[in-house]
Amino acid sequence: MDNATIPAAAGTATGHLSVSRGHLSVSPKILYFGTPVALLTTTNPDGTANLAPISSLWALGHTIVLGLGCGGRTGANLVDRPELVINLPSPDLWPAVERLAPLTGAFPVPEAKHGVFRHEPDKFAAAGLHPEDSVVVGPPRVAECPLQLEATVRSVTPVGPRGEFRAVECAVVHVHAAAAVMVPGTQYVDPAAWRPLIYNFRHYYGLAGQELAPGFRSETA
Ligand SMILES: Cc1cc2nc3c(=O)[nH]c(=O)nc-3n(C[C@H](O)[C@H](O)[C@H](O)COP(=O)(O)O)c2cc1C
Repeated sequence: MDNATIPAAAGTATGHLSVSRGHLSVSPKILYFGTPVALLTTTNPDGTANLAPISSLWALGHTIVLGLGCGGRTGANLVDRPELVINLPSPDLWPAVERLAPLTGAFPVPEAKHGVFRHEPDKFAAAGLHPEDSVVVGPPRVAECPLQLEATVRSVTPVGPRGEFRAVECAVVHVHAAAAVMVPGTQYVDPAAWRPLIYNFRHYYGLAGQELAPGFRSETA
């Protein structure tokens, strides 16, 4: 269908929907369009480790930018103690991620998290995951995660209409990879062996599909 306006009865209960070539004009509550999950380990004020799932992150070279809400413990930890590990779980770890989902290392629980989140000082135990010493940074790695990126914080920038989020720019300083996800004898992660856990509109997905084709700049077969 070309540009047109159709009655709401065709799709939702609110007003009219603009339809352009089969697309509806919609107002989704969230726009989490499917990005990998990471488990961030940071250091709490008392020296213990905090562990929190995120999915707002992207990598360019060895720089990784994280999107963090200001109400969490992780962001505050990174402002005060600018070291972390960005642990990347495989799809089978989704139950551990979901066990972490209602928890915060912040105490008291910030008002914005009341009724939804509860304070948990030992998130590793709560998730059933295990800490492993890092090589360069203070916070531990998550032993079960196949990829573990030790990193330091380069900058923290307020973002959002009211500055309610932080964009945290990180420099990756050391990479750990399970042998099983590497192309043997090389420094390449094997994209056929490594599968991220994807957070897709608040549902967990694996990458089940077959490879379509190597990309233009792929250096692996
Ligand atoms: C799969 C998943 C993805 C999430 N992504 C983010 C995110 O990108 N940024 C963020 O600030 N919070 C994200 N959250 C919510 C935080 O994990 C949550 O606010 C948590 O309480 C933070 O813990 P902390 O307060 O100990 O830092 C996500 C939660 C889940 C389960």
